[in-house]
Amino acid sequence: MIILEDVVKNYGSDVPALNGINLHIQKGEFVFIVGKSGSGKSTLIKLLLKELDPTSGEIFVNKKNLNKVTRKKLPFLRRDIGVVFQDFRLLPDRNVYDNIAFAMKVVEAPNRKIKSRVLAMLSMVGLLDKYKSFPNELSGGEQQRVAIARALVNRPAILLCDEPTGNLDPANSNAIMKILEQANKQGTTVLVVTHNMDIVAQMKKRTITMSDGKVISDREKGGYFYED
Ligand SMILES: Nc1ncnc2c1ncn2[C@@H]1O[C@H](COP(=O)(O)OP(=O)(O)OP(=O)(O)O)[C@@H](O)[C@H]1O
Ligand SMILES: [Mg+2]
Repeated sequence: MIILEDVVKNYGSDVPALNGINLHIQKGEFVFIVGKSGSGKSTLIKLLLKELDPTSGEIFVNKKNLNKVTRKKLPFLRRDIGVVFQDFRLLPDRNVYDNIAFAMKVVEAPNRKIKSRVLAMLSMVGLLDKYKSFPNELSGGEQQRVAIARALVNRPAILLCDEPTGNLDPANSNAIMKILEQANKQGTTVLVVTHNMDIVAQMKKRTITMSDGKVISDREKGGYFYED
């Protein structure tokens, strides 16, 4: 599902941001990626989306070798990957329904299908009653739930989350984790970058720790190693 082989990413400075990453993530896994600021977590996410190319090494996502995915084929790769960021990134001039529907309109889904899927996603994230609200009328936790609904509406095989609870309080963070766990139970492979070690400890999932562009520990069920 996700394989990295000897991946190096050098932005041009003396020290590479990623310095020899080897990683296998199976279909259906739920994985946390932790590590101090600058350790390379977001760089890893950007490589998986092919927003960046590695300096060397190979990356496979859904059996596709990203070094061989052409610009023309990029939309097909990205269609299979949902993404959620710390800062929500909703379209400010569209309501909740249209923010989620937009992701399906882009792939030219028929309107009837769009409606039933968007409503199903809104129900999953508990926001059916807010479908007409605009992003600036929602709390941070609600905005993030819309962002997750949007990321999942096309039923991607993989959901990548870069600090999804970074702007949220503990109650909202827990609610977001419940939704991610539900998506995972429905078969989505979920990767979550986070600094929230309380959540990592609670969830008891595979946890990969990065430091200086390397994986320094990879443990099942929430054991982690973290130096601040
Ligand atoms: N576009 C860029 N150009 C040059 N250097 C970069 C760029 N993006 C990231 N870096 C550097 O690469 C390293 C890894 O950055 P990255 O954003 O992947 O870290 P991170 O683990 O996500 O950190 P944080 O927890 O603060 O989000 C850092 O040293 C950073 O300064
Ligand atoms: Mg980051």
